[in-house]
Amino acid sequence: MDQFTSILEERAPVLASIAVVLVAVFAANVLFKNDYLSQIPLIGSEVGDAEKRRKAYITNGLDFYKKGYELFKSKAYRLTALDGDRIVLPRHLLEEVRQLPDDVINIDKAFDVINEHKHLDMGNRKLTEFMIHIIRGDLTRGLARINPRLSAETAQTIQEELPPCDDFTPVVVYQTVLRMVAKISGAIFIGPELCRSEDYLNASIGYTLDFLNAVNKLKQWNKRWRWLGRYFTPEVDKLFKERKKAHNFLNPVIKQRRADMAAGKDMPDDALQWMLNKIDETGLSDDILAETQLNMSMAAIHTTTLTVTMILYDLVVRPDVIEEIRKEVRSVLAANHGVMTSHALFEMKFLDSVMKESQRVNPGSLIRFQRYVDKPVTLSDGTHLPAGYMIETAHALTVQDPSVYRNPEKFDPRRFLDLRNGTSEDLLKYKNKEQHQFVTVTKDFMHFGYGRHACPGRFFAANEIKLILARILVDYDMQMPDGLTERYANINMGPDAFPDPTKEVLFKRVKTAEK
Ligand code: HEM
Ligand SMILES: *[C@@H]1O[C@H](CO)[C@@H](O)[C@H](O)[C@H]1NC(C)=O
Ligand SMILES: *[C@@H]1O[C@H](CO)[C@@H](O)[C@H](O)[C@H]1NC(C)=O
Ligand SMILES: *[C@@H]1O[C@H](CO)[C@@H](O)[C@H](O)[C@H]1NC(C)=O
Repeated sequence: MDQFTSILEERAPVLASIAVVLVAVFAANVLFKNDYLSQIPLIGSEVGDAEKRRKAYITNGLDFYKKGYELFKSKAYRLTALDGDRIVLPRHLLEEVRQLPDDVINIDKAFDVINEHKHLDMGNRKLTEFMIHIIRGDLTRGLARINPRLSAETAQTIQEELPPCDDFTPVVVYQTVLRMVAKISGAIFIGPELCRSEDYLNASIGYTLDFLNAVNKLKQWNKRWRWLGRYFTPEVDKLFKERKKAHNFLNPVIKQRRADMAAGKDMPDDALQWMLNKIDETGLSDDILAETQLNMSMAAIHTTTLTVTMILYDLVVRPDVIEEIRKEVRSVLAANHGVMTSHALFEMKFLDSVMKESQRVNPGSLIRFQRYVDKPVTLSDGTHLPAGYMIETAHALTVQDPSVYRNPEKFDPRRFLDLRNGTSEDLLKYKNKEQHQFVTVTKDFMHFGYGRHACPGRFFAANEIKLILARILVDYDMQMPDGLTERYANINMGPDAFPDPTKEVLFKRVKTAEK
């Protein structure tokens, strides 16, 4: 049970739309909705009533989705998740749904439901717009400028976080990568000194876990009693305590920045500063600024760590792929004066392909595009989406469908490179082959979501992941311990799959002469 809880705590941020999603269905609407809903087939009716289906979802969730996918490939179906029905949409309908306005299909309200905002004093999720504005306008646009710095931070951080590794040395991958990612992201979020303080690392790593824990524990209460349950849930108290601690850490930092700005000093080039430069015109308080910093860590750190861990687990059992990545990294670097510029990272197309293939084989969560239907809408094929329902799509089944990606059961490191290059047949017939890049979201590859609310941090994440992998793979040899040859199995939980956070890989520093 402890193991289970700790894995639960280590799952990706809820922001990344992971699973313990519960649906608020208001009893008053149920009868009215049933009319429309009877036209959308229900998966799992053979199990019994709603309560039985709900229970079965925990153990058989994956089977329900699979059955729905096979039976109704291009039609919507319903299933009963942990607390209510959801409508699962086929990907071809998403092209239409993603264009609906936010007051019809809403992401903020979906997260309100997913994350129990009401009970965790999370405030209106609309505030997230400020963070998204900074991510798109400053972080993503600034990547070319930031990359050389990010690259230096990556090299330094890897040295700090890995043991000397003069000989093959066991390293717990997830925990180690977690601190690396928190520091490297932190260098850009809050600056290279503060990101190394243990208080900062504790807040940026721990707050997400406290948050997920509080949400998960609260959801064990019947949803009618959660308003009361929160007072009897110690995890909620812990969240509030840690939030306060994080604010106590961030507030003086912000005060100091304001003082330095007033004194006309040269200001740092980091996300905190970009926020400071813009927040006054939004009328938001410095407290909201601190929360925006916390939220950014929450969206960024565990998601990126899970991705890197999955890739390292895939690679350590494929030394030939590692060798090919090394060759690519070295030759790209040689052509770019040894600097990991944005251009150099773009040129690492084999690495890009490996990263995307790892996401395809390890989708993390089975579902994506979770949205709340705020106004009823009828789609072109007649599917009616009633207000108050959650919708989603079974992303993992799409990316493992042989009519979408050939031989889907095979880990093919060149798959997306060949598709991009036109050297393999594209079953999807994209005109623009660059759509097979790691950062691109399409209805056939929704790892980063889909539509206007797809992950805004994915460009930064892609850069960071490439920098980390390129450095680790060129500077270190990796091996499975104890002569193991199989990839570490992911841990499946309902519709989710996580890399095992407890596993070790052996690392040995490559001697400079061999590089
Ligand atoms: C590999 C790492 C990451 C993964 C797999 C990931 C995945 C996702 C997914 C699936 C969504 C939901 C999109 C949708 O439903 O359409 C999302 C949203 C979001 N992500 Fe990421 N993400 C990652 C890294 C990051 C980073 C590094 C940042 C910040 C710098 C970030 C910031 C956000 C934000 C702010 C949203 C909410 C967007 C909105 O509400 O409009 N993510 N992410
Ligand atoms: C931070 O994230 C939470 C959870 O998604 C949200 O309710 C809150 O409004 C966000 N705050 C800011 C300032 O972005
Ligand atoms: C952060 O500190 C708290 C209290 O000191 C502790 O319970 C928690 O485990 C720490 N979290 C991390 C990720 O280090
Ligand atoms: C792309 O395909 C061409 C042949 O069409 C090949 O010469 C080239 O090496 C390929 N590029 C990569 C990066 O594999």
